[in-house]
Amino acid sequence: MKFNTKLNRLGTETAFAVSAQARVWAEKGHKIYPFHLGDINLPTPKNIREATHKFMNQNKNGYCPSEGIPELREALAHDVGSKRGVEYGINNVVVQPGGKPTIWKFFAVIMNEGDEVLYPNPGYPIYESQIKYQGGIPIPYSYDETETGFAIDIEKLRASITDKTTALVYNNYQNPISAASSQDEMEALADLAIEHDLWVLSDDAYYEIRYTDDPPRSIVNIPGMKERTVILYTFSKKFAMTGWRVGASIGPSEVINQIARFNINDESCTNHFIQHALAETVGGDSSGANELSSELQARRDETIKGLNAIDGIHVPTPESTFYSYPNVSTVMANKGFTDLDKFRTSALEATGVSFCARHHFGTPLADETDHYIRLAYSGINQNDIREGLAKLKSWIEG
Ligand SMILES: Cc1ncc(COP(=O)(O)O)c(C=O)c1O
Repeated sequence: MKFNTKLNRLGTETAFAVSAQARVWAEKGHKIYPFHLGDINLPTPKNIREATHKFMNQNKNGYCPSEGIPELREALAHDVGSKRGVEYGINNVVVQPGGKPTIWKFFAVIMNEGDEVLYPNPGYPIYESQIKYQGGIPIPYSYDETETGFAIDIEKLRASITDKTTALVYNNYQNPISAASSQDEMEALADLAIEHDLWVLSDDAYYEIRYTDDPPRSIVNIPGMKERTVILYTFSKKFAMTGWRVGASIGPSEVINQIARFNINDESCTNHFIQHALAETVGGDSSGANELSSELQARRDETIKGLNAIDGIHVPTPESTFYSYPNVSTVMANKGFTDLDKFRTSALEATGVSFCARHHFGTPLADETDHYIRLAYSGINQNDIREGLAKLKSWIEG
């Protein structure tokens, strides 16, 4: 008996493997400081939980439309559109079990075998996995480190466009590096997309995870972009709902209709009673989300303070997401490490501090010389952040 050979092309999200490694280390009796997974150890806002109980008790337990219930599609069209300065209607929204399904369904709709897709690397690893699995050719683009964060190397990206390039994946407020585009950078990307007639997947997973009064900026707001862009929307991060599995694909109706066909073939529908609860709460009382955001901001501040206290590490303070992506080249050299994964596992075993590293976010590029790690501060409380980073400091400086 044989397996499908395409499976050789399927990648994974190795942050889950790092979690498993940390769990094994914890089972041996060690205290773990979990900076590895972008999960949230805080409760979902009360109004969402209460509305969910209500609709569960109203027996919203059967199948519902595979494209999502009209009330939630309407509510999302209004909320997502108004927060990006564009108008969407119900036909622009198809509900999904989380943000992730938008990735494979988007490629399944707009990509043919042999098409090239530009994607961020380092970046969320599922882009590379799905492009390859579905027969496309992943073409990475990278970021340069700046004083305040990271910027896309637009000229390099432009040079990698060919007549086979079909799509651009863009994750502003980026995982793992927390990059936030300037208006100029976003416009340069939009110009390229329009000039080369590319589809764009705008992964907005962290669009509302912001620690600044500056409103977030979206590429769909730039003229000529709304008609070529599909937004990956998710409730996971803003409302601490990673395990609930609700999100949406939002974009041109001709793409959305095709994605809805995959919903019928795949999951039939997204959870029925949760959709009603979200339709009732989207755009309403935001106090729960605000509390989550304040706690995440306090954790960010502790994380950045703790990292910058370590000799050889200097990180800027990101204004979005819940990740820090320090350059550890100097500290590795000081401690005699040349292999990043050995540095990571040695740090785990010496201190219990568990984090991901560059190679968990796409295949490293040939011209990379610096070493980076990613710390997620969404799943660890402030005391543990302080304690863990103090241990990391003594180990690194010891
Ligand atoms: C950039 C990015 N996109 C998409 C997702 C997937 O989100 P969800 O858990 O809603 O499927 C994640 C989750 O970590 C992410 O970081």
